Amino acid sequence: MPLYDIKNISVRINSTNIIRGLSLIIEKGEFVNIIGPSGSGKSTFLRLLNRLSSISSGEINYCGENINEINPVLLRKEVGFVFQKPYLFGETVKENIEYSSNIHNLAVDKDYIFNMLEQLNLERSILEKNCKDLSGGEQQRICLIRTLMLKPRVLLLDEITSSLDPVNTKIVEEFITKIYNDWGITIVLVTHDLQQTKRMGKRTIFLEKGKVLKDAETNSYFKEQSQDQINDFFNEWW
Ligand SMILES: Nc1ncnc2c1ncn2[C@@H]1O[C@H](COP(=O)(O)OP(=O)(O)OP(=O)(O)O)[C@@H](O)[C@H]1O
Ligand SMILES: [Mg+2]
Repeated sequence: MPLYDIKNISVRINSTNIIRGLSLIIEKGEFVNIIGPSGSGKSTFLRLLNRLSSISSGEINYCGENINEINPVLLRKEVGFVFQKPYLFGETVKENIEYSSNIHNLAVDKDYIFNMLEQLNLERSILEKNCKDLSGGEQQRICLIRTLMLKPRVLLLDEITSSLDPVNTKIVEEFITKIYNDWGITIVLVTHDLQQTKRMGKRTIFLEKGKVLKDAETNSYFKEQSQDQINDFFNEWW
């Protein structure tokens, strides 16, 4: 049974079709890149996968069950989402990281947190810091840890390295790759970074105007085009 079986879905907002007739299957354990021009519906698509947005027509099945029938709180426990812009609430980092365990009445696994902090090159003392005092790169890594606290089966990542410098980008990419390899998790990664596309998901889906334009193995994806054509292609987005 596929993890996601997406059948002919559309999203209409104010009579504009943002997603139009999109069908897709995502299997358990896949690592998929979603690329495409700005406004092509990448974030909207990703948000549908844990019911942060809803479809206007069509059907999304998650593990064989209509996603609209699944309790969103339980769904989001399994399907974690990290936004492009880090969003932290309250005062301390600790408060953010322990939040989801607390609302689900789960014990906070300190060693698990320390391990993730270490892998993401963060000091343990950051837990006591005020969120306001963190750099953008630190905030994004804390958001990632917060999402991973409930050990999700699916990780939805929306341009999470776009505001990070190359050093932080590398740390985050390596961390995600390790999690993917160690956990057998499914990852859907939205990116506009060509090199990241090549480094990350094994499958790459190109969206344009809310539709799948191309869906292929990342290795073979860019082979048909010269490097210059690929660069032009990506540069056109900006
Ligand atoms: N809540 C909304 N109300 C109105 N229009 C919306 C809403 N959400 C998205 N849109 C529009 O839908 C289109 C797709 O938006 P979306 O954010 O999914 O694109 P994207 O591919 O993620 O773009 P980017 O690469 O810039 O992040 C855009 O034209 C956007 O303005
Ligand atoms: Mg987006």
